[in-house]
Amino acid sequence: MAVIVEFQHVRFRYPEDTRDSLSDVNLTFEEGSFTAILGHNGSGKSTLAKHMNGILLPTEGRVLVNGMSTSDENRLLDIRHTVGMVFQNPDNQIVANVVEEDVAFAPENLGVEADEIRRRVDDALRQVGMYEYRMHAPHLLSGGQKQRVAIAGVLAMQPKIIVLDEPTAMLDPQGRREVIATVDRLCRENGMTVILITHHMDECIDADRLIVMSNGLVTADGTPAEVFSHVHQMEKEGLDVPETMRMITDLQKDGFPMPVDALETEACADAIAAALRERRASWQS
Ligand SMILES: Nc1ncnc2c1ncn2[C@@H]1O[C@H](COP(=O)(O)OP(=O)(O)O)[C@@H](O)[C@H]1O
Ligand SMILES: [Mg+2]
Repeated sequence: MAVIVEFQHVRFRYPEDTRDSLSDVNLTFEEGSFTAILGHNGSGKSTLAKHMNGILLPTEGRVLVNGMSTSDENRLLDIRHTVGMVFQNPDNQIVANVVEEDVAFAPENLGVEADEIRRRVDDALRQVGMYEYRMHAPHLLSGGQKQRVAIAGVLAMQPKIIVLDEPTAMLDPQGRREVIATVDRLCRENGMTVILITHHMDECIDADRLIVMSNGLVTADGTPAEVFSHVHQMEKEGLDVPETMRMITDLQKDGFPMPVDALETEACADAIAAALRERRASWQS
């Protein structure tokens, strides 16, 4: 698959700060992939995200979006249209009093013509499962619904990439599930390149790839199963691993042949049942 975002030796230090918030980050993101980025507070995740659409520019090195350098002022507008950003607080992202007006806001500002806006707004609201709410008042919606409207607002810009910086941080468990399912569908059904920043490890399970950040550095990068299988390293960094991964590694230590990629609860339960059946069969023979 084609590379759509590339970090080349990116170092970044905030003005007046005494240490780097990103130090020598090298990463490539492939078009159409779903990447999760995990790390404790202050590890540099938001700083990394803000480099993806030129809100922040590297102190050293460069960031390429669809081949365009974020440091190239002439391409900044193009880059901002290519990368859509969703932030933590849905209330800060809602600008209108009716859902569909809110979603139409950005394309209207871009001067997109009315028919096209209508089509984009309807499409975007359907993609996040909020079409039935198009005439509702955003401030009366639940947190998860508001965040889905915010995502629709970004989709109406038709970006190639959507970067979500802890979009579930302010949501209840139901809202979190709605938002993660929506994000997952955007990638799987609509081919969107998704970069999801989170500190909930369970939100990373469905991603194609999991990157762990610590102190402005990438400390792990692989499939979620690969990364989570390094349980001890994750714990050393103060990060949790999914309960399922803990059970898998504990059972492996006890000699059960467990697949490391059974991270979903049901897949893990099936794998445990299969391992037990196998153990019982070996006792009986
Ligand atoms: N506006 C800022 N000015 C100075 N330092 C900042 C600013 N924003 C973040 N930092 C510092 O950069 C580091 C990384 O922060 P951030 O990218 O927000 O981490 P995360 O999103 O993983 O919590 C932290 O040490 C933080 O204190
Ligand atoms: Mg952050």
